[in-house]
Amino acid sequence: MSGRILVVDDEKDMLSLLRRIITEKTLHKVATEHDPLKAVEIMEKEAFDVVITDLKMPGMDGIGLLGEVRRIQPRAVVIIMTAYATIETAVEAIRKGAFDYISKPFRKERILLTLRRALDWQALTRENVALRESLEQQKKPPSIVASSPAMTSTLDSVKQVAKSMATILIQGESGTGKELVAKSIHAYSDRSDKPFVTIDCTAIPEQIIESELFGHVKGAFTGAWKDKRGLVDEANQGTLFLDEIGELSMVMQAKLLRLLQEGEYKAVGGLNTKHADIRFVAATNYDLEQRTAEKTFREDLFYRLNVIGFRLPPLRERREDIPLLVRHFLGKYGKLNRKEIRDIDPETMSMLMARHWPGNVRQLENVIERGVILCRSEQIMLEDLMPERSHASPLSCFNGATYSLPFKKAKEAVIRAFHQEYIHAILRQNKGNISRAAEQAGLQRQYLHRLMKEENISAENFKDDAANHASGVEVLQAGTQL
Ligand SMILES: Nc1ncnc2c1ncn2[C@@H]1O[C@H](COP(=O)(O)OP(=O)(O)OP(=O)(O)O)[C@@H](O)[C@H]1O
Ligand SMILES: [Mg+2]
Repeated sequence: MSGRILVVDDEKDMLSLLRRIITEKTLHKVATEHDPLKAVEIMEKEAFDVVITDLKMPGMDGIGLLGEVRRIQPRAVVIIMTAYATIETAVEAIRKGAFDYISKPFRKERILLTLRRALDWQALTRENVALRESLEQQKKPPSIVASSPAMTSTLDSVKQVAKSMATILIQGESGTGKELVAKSIHAYSDRSDKPFVTIDCTAIPEQIIESELFGHVKGAFTGAWKDKRGLVDEANQGTLFLDEIGELSMVMQAKLLRLLQEGEYKAVGGLNTKHADIRFVAATNYDLEQRTAEKTFREDLFYRLNVIGFRLPPLRERREDIPLLVRHFLGKYGKLNRKEIRDIDPETMSMLMARHWPGNVRQLENVIERGVILCRSEQIMLEDLMPERSHASPLSCFNGATYSLPFKKAKEAVIRAFHQEYIHAILRQNKGNISRAAEQAGLQRQYLHRLMKEENISAENFKDDAANHASGVEVLQAGTQL
């Protein structure tokens, strides 16, 4: 670990001695200053982890400098150096927030040891602060942006049912905000100051999922050299979020059912039955009802999970949320990238509203994040969001990623992109009138209607004036539709 250290002492010899001691044995960066007033100026411009200061100095003493450090860089740790005669004052400095003092003359080891303890203490404090902040964050409901009737009524119900102990199943396409809703259920519940634990059923290999969930006892299998707590133990009194529950094997489904039904479980290899006090929330982007019909998901487990069910609509079915979400993400990523972005130009907004968004809110978020990074003015323009658009060919979907797909998949991808581009174009030209668009294209009205359904294209988006500006073309991007 290397830190940035500022040493302040009016004796220049002391400064060079300390610099030598510190840089000889460590990787810390050391700045020195003999004038405490100048040291204050340096601190205004540069951040330090540790300030080592003498106590008696002309212009400003060590206690005065300590006050300035507290004001300018409250996270920096202060070490006071003092001659024996001023020990009393050194003790006072500690009362005022200095980390430690060193009496002069000192030994090399003493200064290095104190410095190491100071940096360790600081790292620990930082970790604690981060931990506390993340716990506080967990207690606060996450900000969910919505104005569409479908989402606002879902969010109202979320608040209502959060306080009950009922198990909740959240279904919806990828990126629609299932995890966000799960977190908000926890935050609005009476368990908000207890843990929210997530188990991602896709991320954990089948062989170890049981031990991850329920823990194991020493000797349960090769490599189990001590007892291990499971996520169910961690989530006790709190909420356990079973993410991507549709991925769970039949064997695990049976074990989970027992936990949900009886509130009981056993650690792998353990003999004792344990009792869990847990609120369960599950999410999936599969249609679980269909999976139960196909017998790949247990029906009894489905009903246990689906005591209360929410289905989050895909973004293309709640386009009125898009402007709010765009502004929310502009604020979020503007702040993160220290850019003040006031707005987005109306034409670009119309285009965003007309897109298909197969990756839902997550995809929109990624597009805005990229736009904020690329944007060079206070307003985001189309080319910031989709640089590939400015030199788009008629088949702009045909890019490098397409070639790396198997022939059949590539062909499907290109055809889908062609459908998207073509249908958007004819609907735009005919202001959303399907019959006229079909006539222009030489297609049967029903056929066009069916294609629109398959591609999730709604004529409504082309009827108002704003949408007439929208190019509405969905450019295929690797990782979204392909
Ligand atoms: N209504 C919303 N308001 C603000 N941010 C949102 C909203 N919906 C989704 N997001 C953001 O979009 C991203 C995806 O959301 P989330 O992870 O909750 O989706 P998901 O449905 O769990 O997706 P997946 O099925 O792929 O896991 C997150 O960064 C989330 O913060
Ligand atoms: Mg998720």
